[in-house]
Amino acid sequence: MALLEVDDLRVSFPTEDGRLHAVQGLSFSVDPGRTLAIVGESGSGKSVATQTMVGLTRGAQVSGRALFDGADLLTLPQEQLRRLRGEAIGFVFQDPLTSLHPQYTVGWQLAEVMRAHETIARGPARARAIELLTQVGIPRPEKRIDDFPHQFSGGMRQRAMIAMAVALNPRLLVADEPTTALDVTVQAQVLELMKRLQADYSAALIIITHDLGVVADMADEVLVMYGGRAVEVADRRTLYYRQHHPYTKGLLASVPLSAAHTEGSRLIPIAGQPPSLLRPPPGCSFHPRCPYAMDVCTRERPPLEPVSGDLEATSEHTSACHLPEDALGSSAAAEDLRRAAVAAAGDTGFATVGAAVGVGSAEEVPAPDVAGDGR
Ligand SMILES: Nc1ncnc2c1ncn2[C@@H]1O[C@H](COP(=O)(O)OP(=O)(O)OP(=O)(O)O)[C@@H](O)[C@H]1O
Ligand code: SF4
Ligand SMILES: [Mg+2]
Repeated sequence: MALLEVDDLRVSFPTEDGRLHAVQGLSFSVDPGRTLAIVGESGSGKSVATQTMVGLTRGAQVSGRALFDGADLLTLPQEQLRRLRGEAIGFVFQDPLTSLHPQYTVGWQLAEVMRAHETIARGPARARAIELLTQVGIPRPEKRIDDFPHQFSGGMRQRAMIAMAVALNPRLLVADEPTTALDVTVQAQVLELMKRLQADYSAALIIITHDLGVVADMADEVLVMYGGRAVEVADRRTLYYRQHHPYTKGLLASVPLSAAHTEGSRLIPIAGQPPSLLRPPPGCSFHPRCPYAMDVCTRERPPLEPVSGDLEATSEHTSACHLPEDALGSSAAAEDLRRAAVAAAGDTGFATVGAAVGVGSAEEVPAPDVAGDGR
């Protein structure tokens, strides 16, 4: 059974210009010991969705369910939620300053996380805090433990946050861009630490990232978000080699394919603007940028449905797109299927938009070399 099961999560904010729909019917699940990577352009709702699950989105209207071990996080009393957060669910925030208190030393804050959830004396808590700081690569941890957050560099603050999030060996770790400010060596250490936590405690991991190296290195499943919705969900190998949604295809095409699995290769936004979350376009919200947009795409929003033409996927492969479900990946044959569908619909948008967003080439493009054998 899934450790976390999110069902039809919707989050909106009242703004001066109207209601902003940041997350619009998001569903996904994560099993113990598995890693889900969430990817998508800036503003697609990745942070809002995950922060809402743990009760950290203020002023928002929220609906749906987020079952953690059977309990709905969205309706849990604050006190219970607070207890779960930290103890069973570790959260690494995108901005470390939001969760480090400026007036307390890093060591005090780390020890406090432990003391708030378990009976542990001051001495052992400090020793464990030093051990954690060592694990996340803080040099001279026995001295730095008495520093205040402002005495840490950005990268060190992020590592301190990660130490805090894993201090209690959580069963679910949510890491929002955990390695952005870290150099390559520390990034590798931090990813290793998360993998170890996962192996030792069968923890489930959700990693939000722009870094395809992290996706290739860590993810079992990948969820692609666009404009507050999931547009494609697939196991890692399927996503790289047999992606269905043109947005996923565009994201992968936006980095040199040979570099798509190397560290530091980042998802670069594709041409055009992300959809307005105040007044989203009708139909498929990707249609203004999509090289394959057909008439139907401007009228009917495609639901996220199983790609039943994909017989090789190791976990369910779903996509929200009107294109034929056997149009998978970058092969010339798949491209022919897409072109045929567009032609059958009597649309000509392909030729004009396709070139602009860098997808839609009929050439066979080699997929990146992504390890697909699981770990
Ligand atoms: N408190 C808030 N009030 C109004 N709008 C908000 C609020 N918090 C987030 N938003 C909006 O919700 C949308 C989704 O934001 P979110 O932070 O989840 O994006 P993201 O996918 O995490 O992007 P990034 O990759 O830049 O971190 C954005 O348009 C953002 O401006
Ligand atoms: S083909 Fe249509 S449904 Fe599919 S992504 Fe493009 S616009 Fe959306
Ligand atoms: Mg974010």
